Amino acid sequence: MSGMVDCNGEKMGIEKWTAKRRDFLRMLGYGAGAAALTPMMAACGGADASTGLDQMRAELVRDAAFWTDVENMFVLSRDKVHMNVGTGGSMPQVSLDTFAAKNLAKAQESGSGYGNLLELRQRVAPSFGVDADELAFSANTSSGMCHAILGLDWRAGDVIVTTNHEHGGGNTPMNIARDRYGVEISRVSLPVGNNQTAATYTNLFDEHIRGLKAQGKRVRAMVWSCPTYLTGTLLPIAELMEVVKSHELISIVDGAHLPGMMHFDYGALGVDFMSGAGHKWQCGPGSTGILIIRNKIRASNPLPLPTWFPVHTSTYSAAARTTTGTASYDIAASVTSCGSLHTPMFEALVASCELWDSIGRKKIETYDLALSSYLKEKIAERWGVEALYAPKDDPKLLSALTSFNPFKNKDDVMVSAKASEFVSRIRSDYAPGFEIRNASIPVIGAAANHNGLRISTHLWHDADDIDRLVDSMWDLAQKMA
Ligand SMILES: Cc1ncc(COP(=O)(O)O)c(C=O)c1O
Repeated sequence: MSGMVDCNGEKMGIEKWTAKRRDFLRMLGYGAGAAALTPMMAACGGADASTGLDQMRAELVRDAAFWTDVENMFVLSRDKVHMNVGTGGSMPQVSLDTFAAKNLAKAQESGSGYGNLLELRQRVAPSFGVDADELAFSANTSSGMCHAILGLDWRAGDVIVTTNHEHGGGNTPMNIARDRYGVEISRVSLPVGNNQTAATYTNLFDEHIRGLKAQGKRVRAMVWSCPTYLTGTLLPIAELMEVVKSHELISIVDGAHLPGMMHFDYGALGVDFMSGAGHKWQCGPGSTGILIIRNKIRASNPLPLPTWFPVHTSTYSAAARTTTGTASYDIAASVTSCGSLHTPMFEALVASCELWDSIGRKKIETYDLALSSYLKEKIAERWGVEALYAPKDDPKLLSALTSFNPFKNKDDVMVSAKASEFVSRIRSDYAPGFEIRNASIPVIGAAANHNGLRISTHLWHDADDIDRLVDSMWDLAQKMA
């Protein structure tokens, strides 16, 4: 990519840089704090305003010493670059220490794990914009999706509107609800690539729901991933919540990748359920998750709370759900408590959450997205923008997951063995190699799924990692052609 940006941030011969792209780059400035400069401002201040990619790189390395210190808080092996955070994170040293100390103390004191972890929930909930009664600890995303979906009072003929890019963690409880209660699952087919905006999603869902209603169907809930695990597209929660509210639906977000990546205020978003992983981007121990449950009426979502029963619990309140701004009972306690828990796991998750708070959740989000944006631009520059399954230009759709087609012969992406070979060779043939993964992506109009590559960019990466990854992938793509 080449071109110049003038001091008003206006495009000067940069065919690929849209207004939205410039907005995103401005956004990078506010996220990183007062000292941060946007690339445009940096370019305007310097003598050598150069290419857009150079500006993005300059922005990324500006705080390099800080992010190197952050990287050193982790024990990741250096024999490869870990870029599959979307599958599993890595506990920072402080969480490992907390886990070890609490585990030892538990053994020494013959401790048990009864309770609902209220004190731990109180320490974490404000960072997610909710109260402790609205933040439960679950076993992982899948467990949270089961709590959410299987606890609702489904009736035969209810319709769940969801997408064709959902993960098994959400699909499985939806399928159980279908077979057990006669719920109908209706899927919106999602677009891929850069040619989409947040409005694409509000229109898709709204039109789909209107179509179902016109057939006399009783649409009751919307379930969507934010972001999807296949393309990394951040289906926009705030905008989709407007669709949810206009159709008076129950909202269930598979937010596996949200905790630790995106700094969202769930009280302000007003979602009924957001099921996130503790063990991915939030870098807590395995078998930890964070489930947000709307438990009081806030201005963000005036709809009544859905009737819901706990399905996996030792705490059952028969109280009705509140109709006011005051909770009638601690719903998160009923999700969190189920017999004796392994409390050191959750203590370690909280240590990781508190580390994120001390670094700054918005700062981490901004850095992750800046890395991801830099990667997406570099892919677009080398392979062409059409290689991307993840959109790059609408900041509302941007996550730290990037999926694309790396092959020189574009049709090779249909051959899953080739995609697997790419993933294993990018690990084995480069020193250090890269840990990434495949994603089997349904693409509208394609005869079969595309086997794209999926890359995660997180707080232990830097611009050099992206540069070397892109060069290595390019090199491997030529060798495999
Ligand atoms: C979108 C999505 N949902 C659910 C899951 C399942 O996650 P967990 O292992 O936390 O249950 C994943 C795992 O990668 C995912 O990407």
